[in-house]
Amino acid sequence: MGVNVFKNEPFSDFSQPERKQQMEAALELVASQLGRDYDLFIDGKRISTEGKSVSINPSNKDQVIGRVAKADQSQAEDAMQAALSAFAWWKNVPAKERARVLLRASAIMRRRKDEFSAWLVYEAGKNWGEADADTAEAIDFLEFYAREMVRLSEDQNLTRLEGEDNELSYIPLGVGIVIPPWNFPLAIMAGMTAAAIVAGNTVVLKPATPTPVIAAKFVELLEEAGLPAGVVNYVPGSGAVIGDYLVDHPKTRFISFTGSKEVGIRIYERAAKVHPGQIWLKRVIAEMGGKDALVVDKGVDVKEAAQAIVTSAFGFSGQKCSACSRAILHEEIYDDVLAEVVELTKKLTVGQAHEYGVSLGPVVDESAYNNILNYIEIGKGEGRLMVGGEKAEGNGFFIQPTVIADIDRNARIAQEEIFGPVLAVIKAKDFDDALAIANGTEFGLTGGVFSNDRFNLAKAREQFHVGNLYFNRKITGALVGVQPFGGFNMSGTDSKAGGYDYLLQFTQAKLVVERY
Ligand code: SER
Repeated sequence: MGVNVFKNEPFSDFSQPERKQQMEAALELVASQLGRDYDLFIDGKRISTEGKSVSINPSNKDQVIGRVAKADQSQAEDAMQAALSAFAWWKNVPAKERARVLLRASAIMRRRKDEFSAWLVYEAGKNWGEADADTAEAIDFLEFYAREMVRLSEDQNLTRLEGEDNELSYIPLGVGIVIPPWNFPLAIMAGMTAAAIVAGNTVVLKPATPTPVIAAKFVELLEEAGLPAGVVNYVPGSGAVIGDYLVDHPKTRFISFTGSKEVGIRIYERAAKVHPGQIWLKRVIAEMGGKDALVVDKGVDVKEAAQAIVTSAFGFSGQKCSACSRAILHEEIYDDVLAEVVELTKKLTVGQAHEYGVSLGPVVDESAYNNILNYIEIGKGEGRLMVGGEKAEGNGFFIQPTVIADIDRNARIAQEEIFGPVLAVIKAKDFDDALAIANGTEFGLTGGVFSNDRFNLAKAREQFHVGNLYFNRKITGALVGVQPFGGFNMSGTDSKAGGYDYLLQFTQAKLVVERY
């Protein structure tokens, strides 16, 4: 198989006139396709349903992105049966053949990169740069997991015992329920799905409620790439109606989930129950929330630290589990860093995501909007509002980037995940105190430290208890293959997406010994 070493898909530079024009053309193309119907896709067949959910543009509530079929329990059961039948033979398709489907899908996506990004702009409210990064990451996941499966299918080089042949192989698990998030509705959704199928499993994919169209587009692409019927079955629908049903199903072998802590815990608990007819313990791969912090030590470049905080806090309106929602500043530089953070935040623009150059698009939907505005009110009572603090203009879910200073380490906005453009700024007495504050939540996903003190960096390396720890840079934007991603404690099962351990979670290892 002629695959070279994995390389990350480069990000686009839209300040180049040619790239800008191409993206504008893609936005126009996608705009001309808005408002269509999307069916369920089960066993290679499209099935329409009477009830539909309407996906809207969070930048413009009146614009319909698509009308999407809603599966009921009997259709969820059909999807399960289709996945079960397909598993019977898909598991025997050689790993290289399965990998080839991913590589073909990646090639198609690369050719239509701006078009996929344009769907992300319209359906998720991502600005151009964020959308482009999401699509690039989706391509990376397809490329990376294809190579990884080939590697895992090779000889595992066990210690030789004279007179015996010992062979270890990674075989698939069975049918997986894939429940991806809306915040990386292409990259994470595609990564979770691709990992499961390339490892030889089959999938029932329940896309995130706010972003079902982008998932439908990906499923179309898999079909175009030659993925056989039944391997991925697309069943949008409500968590209460079909989510629980699929999680509880005795034939479900694993659940791959990325989303909120609350839903993650619910899935974990339900999956632990063994139902009649079930002959295995379900595996749960769960990536949940964060309350991520950037710690700034004394003696650093204030501007650099402030820029990293603002980028990490407000990229995609803070709707990343990796986002910086707490800036923990050493008291000696507290006022200086805070002032710079406020200045930089004031320069950010809020607007419709399709407009070139907008810093923050909308938040994803009405419930996120209300929840975030509610937290902003709580935050105003817990600290000193420095900038933002209100909704922003427009016929969408726009919220001003908000910085609230002098927050107590145990305040609600210092402890609870808000998942929006809200930054709590906390003062620390010294570096040890800063680390204690940083570790003082139930989460442990990303974290960062700005320091020029090698001793303090070494201490943070050891003591800052997060899955992804970044020094002297932003804390978002983990790259596939470079920074495997996943966290500790209530942030999930530390699955390390985009890493060399990830696919193992979708397999079980079988050892065969033959004595000569
Ligand atoms: N992997 C993303 C990041 O690092 C978050 O899901 O920002």
